Amino acid sequence: QQFSDGDDLGAGDARSRRTTKLAVVGAGSVGATMAYAALMRGAARSVALYDINAAKVEAEALDIGHGIQFMPMAEITGSDDIEVCRDADVVVVTAGAKQKPGQTRLDLAQATISLVRSMMPQLVEVAPDAVYVMVTNPVDIVTYAALKVSGLPANQLFGSGTVLDSSRLRYLLARHTGVAVQNIHAYIAGEHGDSEIPLWSSASIGSVPLVEWRGMPGPGGSVVGRLGPEDRERIAEEVVNSAYRIIAGKGATNYAVALAGSRIIEAVLNDENRVLPVSSLLEGYRGISDVCLSVPSVVGRTGVGARLEIALSDSELDGLRRSADALRDVARQFGL
Ligand code: 2OP
Repeated sequence: QQFSDGDDLGAGDARSRRTTKLAVVGAGSVGATMAYAALMRGAARSVALYDINAAKVEAEALDIGHGIQFMPMAEITGSDDIEVCRDADVVVVTAGAKQKPGQTRLDLAQATISLVRSMMPQLVEVAPDAVYVMVTNPVDIVTYAALKVSGLPANQLFGSGTVLDSSRLRYLLARHTGVAVQNIHAYIAGEHGDSEIPLWSSASIGSVPLVEWRGMPGPGGSVVGRLGPEDRERIAEEVVNSAYRIIAGKGATNYAVALAGSRIIEAVLNDENRVLPVSSLLEGYRGISDVCLSVPSVVGRTGVGARLEIALSDSELDGLRRSADALRDVARQFGL
């Protein structure tokens, strides 16, 4: 089933004629919402949704397709045939085991590694030149496994990492301080999971270093939005617990992860060189090697580029190394 709003493309506009194709693997709540978010944001001209459940994938594509008229120019296809992913520019992998209430992301490792082993070679066969964005959890382990299994160069495959966690952090800081989320610059690095660490020492609000933020003048000579060490600690804890809270309430997280994923896809397809904390293979980064985790990195058309040598406090560096050790242990445990 294919939908397109067809032929009203501006004549002679070579740039808009260049079709960009996004393949989303997995039509569960994350995959379907990712396709929806990417279409709504105009991230790709053509979106292919792939899932082994034919009825589900066709239904999701049909439902989204019925709304194509109201979106930026695009088309969507859904199929249980992996051919639907052929020649994609970006492949986003969301297929995997679902995190149940009380489970950590790492609890999903066994099931998802098996899936990666069977699926990656098939995907690389139909879309050898695509940039691969892994979203399936535990994303850092899945990214590492997918790199090993696929043999793809390390720039061409990375994970959504802590882009979502960083947006949660910025959201909470914006609410606390009363400053727009766009003016809060703060990253979460490390594992997308329990050992992740907020990089406070390099964060800023407007151009004010976050650790020096003393609030803003409020009504009647008061000060609003002060941010002390205990506020930072509470906010960091809330970020780590966000997914648990959402999963307990609605069974899965889908909206913010889909928007974060779409942001990453746009950085690739538009060759933006955007700094995003994606999960990629680190080799000699601050003494960390042979593990996938998130640090602020430059993302463009060829995938993940420079990992930024961001200033880290001793405790941040220590946290990053501990996160790396924890992830490497899990990878070894599963024979990776
Ligand atoms: C999230 O953080 C569960 O990893 C997913 O929303």
